[in-house]
Amino acid sequence: MPDAGARDAAYPIMLTDGTTTRTREVTPADLGPIQALHRRCSPGSRGLRYHAGKPELSPAGWRVLSDPQRGTTLVTTTAQCTDHIIAMTNVMRTEQQGVGELAVLVEDAWQFKGLGTALAAHAADVARRDGHHTLTAAVAAGNAPMLHVLESLDAPPARAAGPVLDIRIPL
Ligand SMILES: CC(C)(COP(=O)(O)OP(=O)(O)OC[C@H]1O[C@@H](n2cnc3c(N)ncnc32)[C@H](O)[C@@H]1OP(=O)(O)O)[C@@H](O)C(=O)NCCC(=O)NCCS
Repeated sequence: MPDAGARDAAYPIMLTDGTTTRTREVTPADLGPIQALHRRCSPGSRGLRYHAGKPELSPAGWRVLSDPQRGTTLVTTTAQCTDHIIAMTNVMRTEQQGVGELAVLVEDAWQFKGLGTALAAHAADVARRDGHHTLTAAVAAGNAPMLHVLESLDAPPARAAGPVLDIRIPL
């Protein structure tokens, strides 16, 4: 298995349809392809990711997600087309030492092929590498796919506090 500690290595994931993908850390050159990913995603998918309607990342959002001091952002491409980003995964530092916040956005056309589940497992390894002992995720209560993804990380039952669940996963 590839080493999550190797920052420059591309992590391979094979999807259920046989497509091979590569996941690596974001670079400044990825901004355009990431904005294109956001534009190709449905408003529903973007809303579940950001809990707000936004067609693409704001400059301030990009500065946060691309700053290694603020956390780790991973981008996923197919093995064949390495400049076309089909998913973005974030493990961002929080105000709590050792607690990272996980978020995943998989392009609609690439959902339901096992990518979200595999990215979450890889993100947990990255979070451990980054020194976290806990992952959190803010998930809409009706977001069954993401709740299934987090169950695969052995997430304990979520605390229902309104429409968004605050899930904490010990690593
Ligand atoms: C949530 C998300 C990351 C899951 O990614 P994915 O690549 O579709 O995930 P997987 O293919 O690994 O599927 C995960 C689970 O959801 C289920 N699922 C996925 N898409 C589904 C769909 N359209 N309808 C019903 N179930 C679905 C799968 O069956 C799987 O459940 P299982 O493990 O019990 O079989 C993706 O749907 C997404 O990006 N959604 C929009 C953004 C979002 O919600 N982000 C999370 C905010 S923190």
